[in-house]
Amino acid sequence: MNIAVKHSADATTVEEGLAIQEANAKFDSKAATELAMQNTLLTPRFYTTDFDELDAVDVSSVREDWDKLIDQMEADPNKGHFKKNEDWDHVDWDGMEPKLKKEFIDFLVSSCTAEFSGCVLYKEMKRRGNNKDITQLFQLMARDEARHAGFINDALREAGVAVNLGFLTQQKKYTYFRPKFIYYATYLSEKIGYARYITIFRHLEAHPEHRFHPIFKWFQEWCNDEFSHGEAFALLMKTDPKLTSGKNVLWIKFFLTAVYATMYVRDHQRPAFHNALGVDPDWYAHEVFTKTSDISKQIFPITLDIEHPRWQTGLVKLQKANADLAVARTQGGLSGRLRSLGAQMRAAAAFVGLYTIPAKKHALPASTRMEPAY
Ligand SMILES: [Fe+2]
Ligand SMILES: [Fe+2]
Repeated sequence: MNIAVKHSADATTVEEGLAIQEANAKFDSKAATELAMQNTLLTPRFYTTDFDELDAVDVSSVREDWDKLIDQMEADPNKGHFKKNEDWDHVDWDGMEPKLKKEFIDFLVSSCTAEFSGCVLYKEMKRRGNNKDITQLFQLMARDEARHAGFINDALREAGVAVNLGFLTQQKKYTYFRPKFIYYATYLSEKIGYARYITIFRHLEAHPEHRFHPIFKWFQEWCNDEFSHGEAFALLMKTDPKLTSGKNVLWIKFFLTAVYATMYVRDHQRPAFHNALGVDPDWYAHEVFTKTSDISKQIFPITLDIEHPRWQTGLVKLQKANADLAVARTQGGLSGRLRSLGAQMRAAAAFVGLYTIPAKKHALPASTRMEPAY
């Protein structure tokens, strides 16, 4: 393996990128790695799937769009982008307000884990597959995610913490999802990732005084990578129309609701972080859901009705139940357990309330491919 390259941003393969991160692992922090190891409903997970089934996908029905997308990714416009340069302003970690510092580190660790989760799944698919189209795509996506995770870890290292990615690969629990669930979940996480990064980037373009850390300057090129990854999953789903029709539409609705609701609850746990960015988390959630819904019309025949009167109230109920659950869990004892059970039931009821809001239906466009437009 060639590790003469000194920075993961310049690595052209996922193996190279990870080897560079591994070499830095001796500085990694135990607390950040423990945070990344957590498996709750709200923390990013690692996934595994039926790699043989995925390897058997035939992309000939979308060949033209597929080849264009792969060429774009092969051209590697973001090679060398994900590293510090003269735009990386000094970060005063010691002077940062403690609550903000805690929430921001939490945000970085969670983002790094999510990026790395994509990296391990894509890398494994590339390793196990024999189908040239599939292995090529997954190699390219794993390359990008290794750079993204590595770059966030560089930022964390400045604060004296970083995630030990090698340890995570070995020790974090893997959740099994059938390939079709991987499509829905991963497609959505790539597209919502795009929408999240671009919304923050545009907001900070207009309000640079709120840019309290230089990493946000990198979000534009970053989100373009995520956009392409989402495009690839849209094309994979397009190869089999059954995936986006019939009973599967109920699964699509489930994943849309789960992904949106998780984002809402997780973001509302970081009030100081959003305050520093000058972003109202309710506005931000609505903005991100609107963009994601618009994009996902490329392949999903439904979108959630986020203007429905029960939508916002349902999210608030879910978020309150989760906050109460967190308190009850620290309380312990019988009363803590009872309160925790009550909060879990309220959370489940709120989720069912969101899921049962009638969805909006759409006819699918003839061409799936989109370019980033926000
Ligand atoms: Fe990424
Ligand atoms: Fe991605």
